[in-house]
Amino acid sequence: MIVRLADPSRDAQAIAAIYRPAVEEGVASFEEVAPSAAEMAARMAAILERFPWLVAVEADRVVGYAYAGPHRERPGYRWSVDISVYVDGAFHGRGIGRRLYDVLLPILRRQGMVNAYAGITLPNPASVALHRAIGMQPVGVYERVGFKRGAWHDVAHYQLRLADPPGVPPEPRPLTALPDAPA
Ligand SMILES: CC(C)(COP(=O)(O)OP(=O)(O)OC[C@H]1O[C@@H](n2cnc3c(N)ncnc32)[C@H](O)[C@@H]1OP(=O)(O)O)[C@@H](O)C(=O)NCCC(=O)NCCS
Repeated sequence: MIVRLADPSRDAQAIAAIYRPAVEEGVASFEEVAPSAAEMAARMAAILERFPWLVAVEADRVVGYAYAGPHRERPGYRWSVDISVYVDGAFHGRGIGRRLYDVLLPILRRQGMVNAYAGITLPNPASVALHRAIGMQPVGVYERVGFKRGAWHDVAHYQLRLADPPGVPPEPRPLTALPDAPA
């Protein structure tokens, strides 16, 4: 299995297919209409210069992806990211989620990011285990914060300090400034 930077034109279809069950069958996402490949490509392209999207590829097949996005858009939050990961159901429990994050987090550190956050709709023992395994600490639970599939759901929030925050942080570096990020 290799992990490389995602390419919207090449990978959006597989990424949309991996994401679809979380929208249509589960509550990992609170979206209600699964994005098409074109919509997913547009979402990726919109932030790819600023934030990494990674795919895990096994025998030429995209089997999982992970990405970072802005935690909040207001400028003072630009050293803080939200991270997320989805693995094809046929490939769960094989270390793919862990491997994706093990590549994602060093890229974020090299960009100069300081904090990573994740929200997990409960219950989701695999996701809780993965986010704890990479060192994330629980912040708290938003109780019954989302309604989907006929029920209210709790979302647990996790945080990871990527780097000790400098007094005056340098601007986050765009991905293009990291020549040896996985390609
Ligand atoms: C959550 C998800 C990304 C985990 O990816 P994965 O490739 O199956 O996980 P890994 O095999 O890399 O396992 C990572 C860690 O979680 C643990 N883990 C995996 N599945 C588990 C389960 N069902 N129960 C408990 N622990 C589990 C592993 O033991 C491992 O811990 P370790 O590194 O300390 O040994 C995957 O299950 C998934 O895509 N689920 C559906 C979408 C989703 O919920 N995404 C997260 C949104 S918040």
